[in-house]
Amino acid sequence: MNDAEAGKRAAAERALAYVEDGMVVGVGTGSTVRWFIEGLAAGRHRLAGAVSSSEASTALLRRHGIEVLDLNAAGPVPLYVDGADECDGRRRLVKGGGGALTREKIIAAVAGRFVCIVDPGKRVEVLGRFPLPVEVIPMARSHVARELVRLGGQPVWRQGTVTDNGNWILDVHGLAIREPEALESEINQIVGVVSNGLFARRPADVVLIGSDGTL
Ligand code: 5RP
Repeated sequence: MNDAEAGKRAAAERALAYVEDGMVVGVGTGSTVRWFIEGLAAGRHRLAGAVSSSEASTALLRRHGIEVLDLNAAGPVPLYVDGADECDGRRRLVKGGGGALTREKIIAAVAGRFVCIVDPGKRVEVLGRFPLPVEVIPMARSHVARELVRLGGQPVWRQGTVTDNGNWILDVHGLAIREPEALESEINQIVGVVSNGLFARRPADVVLIGSDGTL
C-alpha cells in the first residue's frame, strides 16, 4: 500500500470513532470512503442505517449488509463522513472528483456533523489546484462553459461521464480560489448549473488528515 492509500485508510478508521449506536450515517463517495464503509460493516448491527451519496456507495453499502435509507424518510442524519479532493486551513473543500458532488452536497447540508477524511496530500493553502467540478444540465454545457471562462477558468468537459442524476461535469482548471464562498455562490447563479464542487458555505466541521492530523 502506498503512502496516500495508507493515509486514506488511517483517516477513515479514525472517523469510525464518530459513529454512535442507533445512528443514521451519511456516507460519501470515493476510495477513502471505501475504507470507511469496510470499517462500518463490522459494526453494522449498531446502525439505524445509512444514507448514500452515490449509486456506487449504495451498492457497496448493500454488499456489506448495511441498510440504505431514502434521505426523505431517514429522519435526522447526525453524521456525514466523506472524502475530498482538496482541503484548506478553514476546512473548506473541493469535491466531486468522483462526480458525486450534488448528492454529497445535499447530505452535507442535512447532516448535523460533517467529518471529512483525507490523506495528507489533499491539504492545500489555496483551493483550485485540483480542477473544480461543476455539474451541468447537458443542454446548458456550452453556455455554462462560456460563463466559467468569464470567471477566469478553463472548463474541460469530462466526456463520457454521466452523473447519477443524468447530468454532465465540467472540470474547471486554472482557478486560484481566494474567496471560495463568493465563487461558490457565483457559479451557482449560472443558469444550467446544478451544483459545484466548492464546499465553502457549508464546510466540513472536522477534517481528519491521515493518521494524526486534525482541522
Ligand atoms: C467524489 C468525491 C470524493 O470525496 C473525492 O473525489 C475524493 O476521492 P478519493 O477519496 O477517492 O480521493 O468528492 O465525488
